[in-house]
Amino acid sequence: MALLGNTAFGEIGHPESMEVWRQMVAVDGGVVMRDGDADDVVGQSIFLDLQLTVPGGAVLPTAGLSYVAVAPTHRRRGILRSMYTELHQRIADAKYPIAALTASEGGIYGRFGYGPATTVQEMSIDRRFAEFRAGVPDPGGVRLVKPAEHRDAFAEIYDRWRRQTPGGLVCPTPLWDDVLADRENTREGGSELFAFLHPDGYVLYRVHGEESRSLRVREVTAVTTDAYIALWRALLGMDLMEKVITWTHPDDVLPYLLTNPRLVRVTSSSDDLWVRIMDIPAALEARRYQADLDTVLDVADGFRGDGGRFALRIQGGRAQCTRTDAPADVELDLDVLGSLYLGSHRPEAFVAANRLRSKDPELVRRLGTAFASDVPAELGYGF
Ligand SMILES: CC(C)(COP(=O)(O)OP(=O)(O)OC[C@H]1O[C@@H](n2cnc3c(N)ncnc32)[C@H](O)[C@@H]1OP(=O)(O)O)[C@@H](O)C(=O)NCCC(=O)NCCS
Repeated sequence: MALLGNTAFGEIGHPESMEVWRQMVAVDGGVVMRDGDADDVVGQSIFLDLQLTVPGGAVLPTAGLSYVAVAPTHRRRGILRSMYTELHQRIADAKYPIAALTASEGGIYGRFGYGPATTVQEMSIDRRFAEFRAGVPDPGGVRLVKPAEHRDAFAEIYDRWRRQTPGGLVCPTPLWDDVLADRENTREGGSELFAFLHPDGYVLYRVHGEESRSLRVREVTAVTTDAYIALWRALLGMDLMEKVITWTHPDDVLPYLLTNPRLVRVTSSSDDLWVRIMDIPAALEARRYQADLDTVLDVADGFRGDGGRFALRIQGGRAQCTRTDAPADVELDLDVLGSLYLGSHRPEAFVAANRLRSKDPELVRRLGTAFASDVPAELGYGF
């Protein structure tokens, strides 16, 4: 498998990292295809056993599809489709309510019932001119620390963060050790890892470049607004850096904190986590909602036929969802429901594309209000 994986992704994973990820593979979570006299592996796919936070803080067992590759000599003859058919049967048999993945290309996974459910943005800040507005607090409490000496503190803060953030994932300790091993092949030309630590947040970053130096944040994780502001004050206080570059979600508040919000530029925006709902009643009943609603959804799943018509009754933030024969108020494909699930996309956008159909615009508006999340969704880590 390693040879095909290395070829498809154009990089060779470190054996110790590969072992960490191997331990996260679910039981019976691998399917390979072989061909030829030498029985070469020409297709491979796995799913990891993950735990995903959904709006309101419930944590759902999630099958995380990963390491999917088909040999360039065997493309476009249905190998991915047949591996996915088998994998999703195993995922359904193991009763995972959710399957999820991050996609190398945007055009492949909608047909399998996956919709983009979180958005990741790259944000670049011209640090030299950045100043905090007069009223923004200066909470302090940030220490400069050696990353490898503070694994447990990072892990404890991350764990608090992922419990309150839709898209957050449980991070096993070996994965922390793998990050903090700080191997040369993970540095992408940058320095070794540096860290800031606050009681409720931390930053891991590298420095890139020689003449014009920039600071690339690997991770800024804050559980409170004070921690967030304190860490950004430390980052923007790095006098010798021209730019600070980080990954974030579309509702990041940093521009609001600065006297000149234009110094914060969004330099890229892309889908991050893709969600396929495997068990519609279980998934819809697990999350919390922002408004009452009483409606019938007709969900189409062209891949596995896991859709159908569902009565969705939301009261006081909690939902009851059952199969019904009543006429539908809203029709949509399963990938669209996946996109709405973590609250990052509005139903109105899918109406415009005729991917969510309803005769009642007021109902569509209420659906959007109900499914919104008060905490912006963000993927815990790539897998
Ligand atoms: C992406 C990849 C796995 C596809 O494998 P494959 O065996 O050629 O795919 P299949 O022949 O089974 O195609 C399945 C369906 O996806 C479609 N499809 C495949 N690759 C596609 C692409 N790059 N863009 C859009 N559609 C694509 C096919 O048209 C087919 O559609 P249909 O079944 O609805 O008619 C393979 O090209 C690959 O290994 N790429 C490099 C590694 C990679 O990107 N892995 C994915 C990581 S998320």
